[in-house]
Amino acid sequence: MVKSSMLKKVLVTGGAGFIGSHLVDLLVEEGYQVKTLDSFHTQVHKEKPTYLNPACEYIEGDIRDRKLLSSLVADVEGIFHLASRVGVGQSMYQIEEYVDENVRGTAVLLDILANEKHNIKKLVVASSMSIYGEGAYNCDACGVVYPVEREVSDLRQGMWEMKCPHCKAVVHPIPTPENKPLCPTSIYAQTKRDQEEMCLLIGKTYGIPTVALRFFNVFGSRQALSNPYTGVVAIFSSRIINGNPPIIFEDGKQTRDFIHVKDIAKACFLSYEKEEADYQVFNLGRGKPVSIGEISRLLQKILKKEVGEEITGRFRKGDIRHCIADIAKLKKFLSFEPRYSLEEGMEELLYWMQNEQPEDNILKALQELEGRRLVE
Ligand SMILES: NC(=O)c1ccc[n+]([C@@H]2O[C@H](COP(=O)([O-])OP(=O)(O)OC[C@H]3O[C@@H](n4cnc5c(N)ncnc54)[C@H](O)[C@@H]3O)[C@@H](O)[C@H]2O)c1
Ligand SMILES: [Zn+2]
Repeated sequence: MVKSSMLKKVLVTGGAGFIGSHLVDLLVEEGYQVKTLDSFHTQVHKEKPTYLNPACEYIEGDIRDRKLLSSLVADVEGIFHLASRVGVGQSMYQIEEYVDENVRGTAVLLDILANEKHNIKKLVVASSMSIYGEGAYNCDACGVVYPVEREVSDLRQGMWEMKCPHCKAVVHPIPTPENKPLCPTSIYAQTKRDQEEMCLLIGKTYGIPTVALRFFNVFGSRQALSNPYTGVVAIFSSRIINGNPPIIFEDGKQTRDFIHVKDIAKACFLSYEKEEADYQVFNLGRGKPVSIGEISRLLQKILKKEVGEEITGRFRKGDIRHCIADIAKLKKFLSFEPRYSLEEGMEELLYWMQNEQPEDNILKALQELEGRRLVE
């Protein structure tokens, strides 16, 4: 059941970012009055983005600024909480900063909801597939299993696939349902788990309907292409546009679930509007595995630039092998299925990329990981 259009004034934290900006556009289109609180972090925004929506009010500030956040919360009926630092590898050495922005930032928001007068009727929080660690697998002999982490000794020998925790046979990835035990393998993932659980906990305690959305690998226009700490599609695109081959870890056959940013925005919106979503967690993916090698080849095809790829056979600590969303719950409760195929999503990305001149900063980011032995 879709609620009446009473809930019109909303706050989006991180609304100037890649996903937040598409959500802001959709909310404006749907007749919402939208405010955004965003710190315009320099790693994400080298300058003010040109795509900001003229119908949205942008407040430049940090979610940890309690007074500012509190004044904004007092003026809206709903919150989409997306503000976060998002670099997985970077979070492994900027630990204090990541925990402070992501976890304490969320704590400031929840503390306001618990202690101050407000009119919030819904909270949607952006969570992440990274909180699962490895996805779910099937073992021919043992059935469904949840292997935790690969042995470094196996990785050093190029044995990339997951093994059964019971019989050690190689296992096959299957869609990962929301009730798979969580097992974050980075500080970033840990902070996303904390954000999700803290929001649901306070939401339930104070009767504020809350929804946590576990985004899988999001791609599309406006992803910060020059930010080497962001998603693989952006990083590979900036390599290819600059005439360099994408650097691929392991053997390139590791798989992820890529979902277009406009589908993410739509699902955020539906989860806000639908009471059926209240107090629940949802996977937001397409439910289709795509290998990292395929992403590199597809991007070269659409960018019409053949640069090959550098398959390094190296590995990063904490990287997982496969994780694909089980989207049955999304379909059931939100009656939603992603609309964009990988190819259609890439077309949208390509159209936007034509006017972008990204810097290729990946080698610097890689050196930082190497210096800390986070990559072997
Ligand atoms: N992109 C993905 O594939 C993906 C996958 C899973 C989850 N997510 C989650 O989705 C959300 C949005 O991610 P994105 O990809 O759009 O990243 P992004 O970096 O483009 O956007 C995040 C925005 O938050 C802002 N921000 C960061 N720290 C802030 C703070 N302390 N106060 C105020 N604003 C702050 C940044 O300036 C930026 O505009 C994040 O919560 C992220 O963890 C993203
Ligand atoms: Zn087994």
